[in-house]
Amino acid sequence: MAARDIAAEILARTDIVGLISNYVTLHRAGANMVGLCPFHSERTPSFTVFPGSNSFYCFGCGAGGDAITFVRRMENLDFPDALEQLAKRAGIRIPQEPQLYQGKKYDRNRFFAMNREAARFFHQTLRDGEAESIAAMDYLVKKRGLSTATITHFGLGFAPPGYETFPAYMLDKGYTPDELTTAFLCGRSERSGRLYASFRNRVMFPIIDLSGNIIAFGGRVMDDSLPKYKNSSDTPVFRKSRNLFALNFARSACAEQLILCEGYMDVIALHAAGFTNAVATLGTSLTEEQARILTRYTKKVIIAYDMDEAGRRAADRAIRMFGDVGLEARFLRLDGAKDPDEYIKKYGADRFRQMLGESRSRFDYYYENVLTKYDLHSPQEKVRALSEMCTLIASFPSPAEREVYITEIARRFDVKADSLRSEIGRLLRRRLTEANRQQVQKMHQAASGYNDRVNPDFARNPGVARAEENVLGMLLIREEHRKAAFSPPISLTEADFSTALGKKIFAFLKKCEEEGHGPDTPDAYFTTEEVGRITRMKVMRMQLTENGDAVFSECVRQLRRAVAEQSQETETPTLTDLTALVRRRKEEVDLPSEGDGKINE
Ligand code: GTP
Ligand code: MN
Repeated sequence: MAARDIAAEILARTDIVGLISNYVTLHRAGANMVGLCPFHSERTPSFTVFPGSNSFYCFGCGAGGDAITFVRRMENLDFPDALEQLAKRAGIRIPQEPQLYQGKKYDRNRFFAMNREAARFFHQTLRDGEAESIAAMDYLVKKRGLSTATITHFGLGFAPPGYETFPAYMLDKGYTPDELTTAFLCGRSERSGRLYASFRNRVMFPIIDLSGNIIAFGGRVMDDSLPKYKNSSDTPVFRKSRNLFALNFARSACAEQLILCEGYMDVIALHAAGFTNAVATLGTSLTEEQARILTRYTKKVIIAYDMDEAGRRAADRAIRMFGDVGLEARFLRLDGAKDPDEYIKKYGADRFRQMLGESRSRFDYYYENVLTKYDLHSPQEKVRALSEMCTLIASFPSPAEREVYITEIARRFDVKADSLRSEIGRLLRRRLTEANRQQVQKMHQAASGYNDRVNPDFARNPGVARAEENVLGMLLIREEHRKAAFSPPISLTEADFSTALGKKIFAFLKKCEEEGHGPDTPDAYFTTEEVGRITRMKVMRMQLTENGDAVFSECVRQLRRAVAEQSQETETPTLTDLTALVRRRKEEVDLPSEGDGKINE
């Protein structure tokens, strides 16, 4: 069976709505389903699933494609691995066709096995009784207070000081220098070309994904030398922006609430004290992607960052990010300790549990900030304080929530709730106008190819590029146009297309035609961004009623005329179409109109 047939079979047996529903809450909108896009942050749904064509497209960020594209993006997999995952889901066995794996650059399972071997080496080294290893064990047990059970549970280890022991061990296990450097386990000396261990004389923290695979490592020095931590860079099986330390353990304990810390050591101390719902980011600040991933596992996040200024700033940023993805977040204050690890050691688990109960909402957190910042006896400062609180309340998406806090603020500041309501209503309307303006601007930029990374040639001649997209869109959605396109009198050739992406898509269409099938698995040939663009071309055409033969011929004529003239384009109908389309779609998904911004008038 050809790779394409396998893919087609898998796609036919995959219900795209069911698949995407595992990640996104979808609501019906006419014949389609809409929801909040899992690939970018938004408050009103732009993400649309088209059950009729088994595809999805986000009008906000341009992500789009079929079930394979969705899994590639969502799980960060390449084409063969995405196929494998969907096949498993559909209960299809994939034959081990070598051609299916042609595009495969590496073997994930081999990387996992390699990392597991490395973790075993580090863990065994920690226990081997050598003087250096004993020092490492003392550091973990005596200095940091970890039990051997905790050390085993987290698979902690020790990377010895030498440059060569570790590479020698791994080479002996059959891993190649290339694999070891790609996994960030080893480096290669530029002068001698010799392999050396990336982690030396550090206690090692394996990073484990949700399937239990070891995907990366963090290594900490045992004194005050710098850098304190060394973390794996991104590898083919690891992206630090979408993984979290200890989520593999926490996932079964965090349905109600999850504790987000800054450091590995905080998480380990919390788990050891019974708070098995603690996780940490991997040496970077929280990413939007991580915030969105957490929405799948928990209802509420308690942010337990360090108590210094940097920690407070990071916490404030994180709390806003959770708000953006619609997750309740609270802020933990730990008096008398710099971080959760130290707090538990000083005051014990019970006190910590009590502090969790007293964690503050974003509202309380801002309120306290405002109280310390402003003197409420001064009328001017009181106005500023109120204005900050109104801005905060206006950022809450739920009207009921806004109403609760309006009443609260009116009481605490002794002002009329109605005046707050009209102020907040004004802010909400301004937000909405601003959001609309940005959306229109984005559409104009997209239409002119401004900053277009997927098709960098677009901006050079937007008129030609748009004409190209029209023709390609029609070829992608209608078999009869493909038939007509490759024979006289139309006889399109690659030379009719000016942009690199246009040529590439045309070549793909032609290849599919020659092989006698439709252009139905672009994922085998294109990046997910390119598939998104292909999907946009299709969606744009599908939303227009006229895609018949006459329109197609006219689009081809337009393209050839545009290429011949290569003239600076003026206003073309496409931009108008685009604007009309978005307006129509907004009505479909029932976005709030101007008046809805007012709360109670
Ligand atoms: P302890 O100081 O042992 O308590 O460590 P910690 O895990 O509490 O770390 P800390 O709060 O200082 O930093 C939080 C996280 O930031 C760490 O767990 C690391 O992931 C990361 N980090 C800290 N220092 C460095 C560094 O020097 N380099 C890199 N890449 N990451 C660091
Ligand atoms: Mn710490």
